[in-house]
Amino acid sequence: MNGVDAARLELSPERMRAFGHGVVDAIIAHMTNLETASATPRATRAAMDATLWTPPPRGPTDANAVLAQTVRDVFGHCMDPGHPRYFAFVPGPNNYVGAMADALASGFNAFCGTWLESAGAAEVELVTLDWLRQGMGLPDGFGGLFVSGGSVANLTALAASRTVMLDDRIEGAVAYGSDLTHRALDKAFRILGFRSEQFRRLPCDDEGRLPVDTLGHAIATDRAAGLRPFCVVANAGTTNTGAVDPLPEIARLCRSENLWLHVDGAYGAAAALTRHGRARLAGIGDAHSLVIDPHKWLFQPYEAGVVLVRDMAWLRRAFAIDADYMQDTAPSTGEINFCDHGIQLTRGFRALKLWMTIKVFGLDALTAAVQRGIDLAETAGRLIAAHPRFEVVTPPSLGVVTFRYRPAAALDEGEIDSLNRRIVAAMLDDGFALVTSTLIRGRTVLRLCTINPRTTEGDLAATLARLADLGDRGRAG
Ligand SMILES: Cc1ncc(COP(=O)(O)O)c(C=O)c1O
Repeated sequence: MNGVDAARLELSPERMRAFGHGVVDAIIAHMTNLETASATPRATRAAMDATLWTPPPRGPTDANAVLAQTVRDVFGHCMDPGHPRYFAFVPGPNNYVGAMADALASGFNAFCGTWLESAGAAEVELVTLDWLRQGMGLPDGFGGLFVSGGSVANLTALAASRTVMLDDRIEGAVAYGSDLTHRALDKAFRILGFRSEQFRRLPCDDEGRLPVDTLGHAIATDRAAGLRPFCVVANAGTTNTGAVDPLPEIARLCRSENLWLHVDGAYGAAAALTRHGRARLAGIGDAHSLVIDPHKWLFQPYEAGVVLVRDMAWLRRAFAIDADYMQDTAPSTGEINFCDHGIQLTRGFRALKLWMTIKVFGLDALTAAVQRGIDLAETAGRLIAAHPRFEVVTPPSLGVVTFRYRPAAALDEGEIDSLNRRIVAAMLDDGFALVTSTLIRGRTVLRLCTINPRTTEGDLAATLARLADLGDRGRAG
């Protein structure tokens, strides 16, 4: 095929340029048309098989034809969590600069495991982490690394905790968190070899927070039984309701009990960039380890998670390994081999997207965008409270509000649960917005997470109106 050197897996410069322009045009068309597109494109397995399940192509296909098929048949059946009316789970409102940075990172393909191979990338990673540290008001010394996301960031932090606190001897060791702690933590403890009962999920209070007296009591009981408490996981924004555990009190308890304090701020910790969030998250700097996901509330494309620890030596203790074939990569003073600080040896350049985003827009713009997410939830809370058939269940907190459709007709709570689940299903079919549900004290509630700075007040009002309408119709049906 003209301009294709299949033996070298190369396109000619002209073909590369045309293909690259096609990719950029496709991204721009997607991003600029998002608000009029369906928020919920879906497909069944059978439909996707019929579209994409083919034998491997033995010969070449024109790159632009492949691109066109990818946009139509692949992305045409994927939701974009950056859609302004994607309010489900924790949205991923990425940005164009971050996306282009990912393309650059792939194109230059820096190997970010060792300083030797990518000093520039390693320096950018260190700088970006320190910008985050400063922006969030964390003490000097906090450092860490970029990983794929919150699950791996939590795993990385807990691995450090296991090594530093237990010398990797886990028999009889116990850790604590509230029952609203993200399930990624259970997974991490399991991967690290702990049995499920070694991570105690203690009942949260009515505000979704870990009660310090319950925590203190559990620690004392376990010590009396000869067990070895070593770690507390605190939430800086639970996924369910945005609740924040009482960080200063938990930190005090951890100090007096000599426990590692891990803070999961995968979605919520970004709020510490703002004045409001900094006050809500007071005490976060007392953590031994902290997780924050740039692919959530720092507007980066997947994948980007960050783990920060108070002392980088802890990560080295948990992860550094000598290997004969790595003997030429020994870093000089101050240089960092990130492979010695986490799970991956071969690592992509994840820090670049956040670095370029901060440089292009400025940290103040990111801070304002986070504040906007907090404000949007407040607006949603007011609209919900003013609506005759909605009730606020948990008030707006760090960009999350939960509520319930409650019809005028007398229904029991179980019937209202299933009505609210029917509203979610009807909205999925409708496609105007993506709104999902969760359980609060065993009852189904609707939940909005409003962290997309491109969401408008009009989007909120229209989504709530449509939810109410679907509820009215669901009740009639
Ligand atoms: C509080 C919290 N922790 C951990 C995670 C897991 O992060 P990831 O999905 O990036 O692995 C999430 C995901 O939403 C989260 O909200």
